[in-house]
Amino acid sequence: MKVVVTGGAGFIGANLCELLAGSADVDEVVALDDLSTGFVENLDGIDAEFVEGTILDTGLLDRVFAGADSIVHLGARGSVPRSVDDPVASHDANTNGTLQVLEAARRAGNVQVIVASSSSVYGANTQLPKVETMATRPVSPYAATKLATESYTLAWQFTYGLPTLAFRFFNVFGPKQSVGHAYAAVMPAFLDAAISGRPLPVHGDGTQSRDFTYVGTVCSVIADAIGRQVTHPDAVNLAFGTRTSLLEVIAVMEELMGRDLPLEFQPTRRGDVKHTQADNGVLMGLFPDVVPTDLRTGLTATIAWYEQYLG
Ligand SMILES: NC(=O)c1ccc[n+]([C@@H]2O[C@H](COP(=O)([O-])OP(=O)(O)OC[C@H]3O[C@@H](n4cnc5c(N)ncnc54)[C@H](O)[C@@H]3O)[C@@H](O)[C@H]2O)c1
Repeated sequence: MKVVVTGGAGFIGANLCELLAGSADVDEVVALDDLSTGFVENLDGIDAEFVEGTILDTGLLDRVFAGADSIVHLGARGSVPRSVDDPVASHDANTNGTLQVLEAARRAGNVQVIVASSSSVYGANTQLPKVETMATRPVSPYAATKLATESYTLAWQFTYGLPTLAFRFFNVFGPKQSVGHAYAAVMPAFLDAAISGRPLPVHGDGTQSRDFTYVGTVCSVIADAIGRQVTHPDAVNLAFGTRTSLLEVIAVMEELMGRDLPLEFQPTRRGDVKHTQADNGVLMGLFPDVVPTDLRTGLTATIAWYEQYLG
């Protein structure tokens, strides 16, 4: 079996390539990435072929997708604040990029396409937990591109019969998530600060909450979806209905790291939503055997990785 991972040198992509490369069912893993936010070093020691290039290059997509059984499309310009600063660049990579991936998959033949959407599509809809059938109300350019990503994907399933699966990821965390820049996600930003002895930057009052999902769990669900060639006609939440505030995350970090962590409160960022929490009924129906890694266990592994990486 051949699997192509777009964005394969990124955080989730590299973790997924590692899992797939060790799987008996997968013979060939190809990571396609333009290295705009990913790092080739994320693939060190992993038995995957790395191809540098953009998902906007249709000729390259045709060459890389030839003979693939599954394409996991993770390549995108992540981060809400990054999209607020440059919405056109986010649209190009995320919306146009997805369209090109779907069209190349259609040319390649009957290949399963799994794409990454985001809980950000629920946006201004304040109901909790988030059920897939709820109205979507994007409040950032990034969220709009992710709604476009899943909409195109589902439309290509209906219109062209492409076997697709669109996941809405919530806050994924774990080793290899990028740090050291203004657009870093909250977990790596906190760990970077904690390990470097700086106060943890908290936007808002810290009571905002997220359905944090360990990257290993996300990757094992995707691997199962590839192995059984799972498809679904609607977007599927990939999270487990837990809701943890940033202040609660910091308390667990303090306990695991054995010291108090000073905080620096900063203004709330434009486009950020207050709370996310998934309803996982559809996910559990499709993947009944999945056992999620809990926050404490995932954070323990994540802290160990960052201490080694940043230390
Ligand atoms: N991490 C999360 O919490 C989260 C939440 C919701 C959705 N997602 C989605 O999951 C996917 C993976 O996110 P991640 O956290 O691993 O981010 P990441 O930035 O680490 O990975 C994205 C990768 O895509 C690559 N990329 C960007 N534009 C490209 C292009 N034009 N051509 C080829 N490669 C390109 C980047 O270089 C990077 O390696 C993204 O689609 C993201 O929107 C992530």
